[in-house]
Amino acid sequence: MTTAWVVNPVGPLRGDVAVRGSKNAVTKHLVASMLGNSPSTISNCPDIGDVDITISMLEALGCEVDRNDTTVTVNPGTLHSSRVPIRFSGMNRIPILMLGPLLHSVGEAFVPLVGGDDIGSRPIDFHTDALKKMGAEINITEEGLEAKASNLRGAHIELPYPSVGATESVLMTAVLAQGRTVLDGAATEPEVIELALFLQRMGARIEMRPNRRYIIDGVDELSGASHHLKGDRIEAFSYLTAGLITGGEVRVQGCSQDRLVTAISTLSRMGARFEITDSSVSAWADKLEPAAVETDTHPGFMTDWQSPMVALFTQCEGLSVMYETVYENRFTYVPALNKMGAQIETYNTALGSIDQRFVGSSTPCSVIVRGGAPLQGTDVVVPDIRGGFAYVLAAASAEGTTTITGTHHLDRGYNRPIENFTELGLDIKRIEVPKPPEAD
Ligand code: EPU
Repeated sequence: MTTAWVVNPVGPLRGDVAVRGSKNAVTKHLVASMLGNSPSTISNCPDIGDVDITISMLEALGCEVDRNDTTVTVNPGTLHSSRVPIRFSGMNRIPILMLGPLLHSVGEAFVPLVGGDDIGSRPIDFHTDALKKMGAEINITEEGLEAKASNLRGAHIELPYPSVGATESVLMTAVLAQGRTVLDGAATEPEVIELALFLQRMGARIEMRPNRRYIIDGVDELSGASHHLKGDRIEAFSYLTAGLITGGEVRVQGCSQDRLVTAISTLSRMGARFEITDSSVSAWADKLEPAAVETDTHPGFMTDWQSPMVALFTQCEGLSVMYETVYENRFTYVPALNKMGAQIETYNTALGSIDQRFVGSSTPCSVIVRGGAPLQGTDVVVPDIRGGFAYVLAAASAEGTTTITGTHHLDRGYNRPIENFTELGLDIKRIEVPKPPEAD
């Protein structure tokens, strides 16, 4: 048996959703806590699988972790092991980020192979190349990465692409390394800046320069710090889309406008209207026009907004284009939307202006959506976390019942989604069903 979400559309979704701290910041803050010489406290944590997994990894390393509702306190003082157990292999992308902090505290580290969603090849060469430049010896085995370093030192590191994770790896290693690290070609996503500010709060010396450069002067020690996480911009966009795709209006609380600027400008271009205050953003539309959108690094249209937007395109009369430039394989959810009646064609040519990162790949990087076709509920299997949310959106705007399996992907990254959708008026329930044979 497996868990399924059963969705019965009810018409326009309306109401309020409060988002919590973002999935892609909370876990990094928990890892950064390993670097302090006293406990750190992270508040506004979402209730998601990735937090459970990261806390279990920290506990396996010996850290004492206290979780009280939305607040997590990590005491790194009891850390004694250098090995993240192999049972965490493939669960999420966090173990690789623990290499630097483990090397600083115990001089050696083992982390199992990183996991996360199957959205194309997700190499870790930027992380390992940077750590090697800083003095780590790294040996990649079938099971994971073994690393050793008696003394990590600053270096000049140039990332070939502004990778979020590799930037975070370098920041969390350079802050306690000897001397200066100059990091070029770095990511500037809000979650990365949030982490850099937390490290500064812990006593790190980090300068942010124009043109994707960070300068980090290593210090001898860092103390614990506290931080109230900022709202998840992926969830915020996804719920705004839930209102728009059903012809309703959702007001999202807890994610500031600056984190949504490109989402708001893109949806505005399509005809959406907004009410924006210091604490909330709500969106509605009389009619939405099609659009051409390409995903990009910040401040561009983020890759994690791509699948909800494509779901929305299916209900905008006319031809829309989505070009994915960050990940190699992020349209695995398209066949299921087509099974529901959407008219989406995939292409492996670049239908946009940004350089194609995966030239020669056989997986599609662009889609053309012929919007306006009615959707029918059916049985679908979630391929990855963001694709899964697109299914819920499509199901909410379809005719008839949709049964969604593979929802463990959604549980890993969305804070109480069933409760939130129920508050918005959707008829959505979690049930147990026999395991389906394979993904759509
Ligand atoms: N890349 C490499 N080598 C590396 C690292 C990355 O080639 O060593 C490539 C990747 O293959 C990809 C590109 O660089 O093509 C960008 O990857 P990045 O490192 O920025 O992604 P990430 O850190 O693994 C985080 C989020 C993703 C989000 C991306 C981009 C976390 C845990 N994950 O991934 O979130 O899409 O940044 O903003 O922070 C999600 O939440 O659904 C999700 C996938």
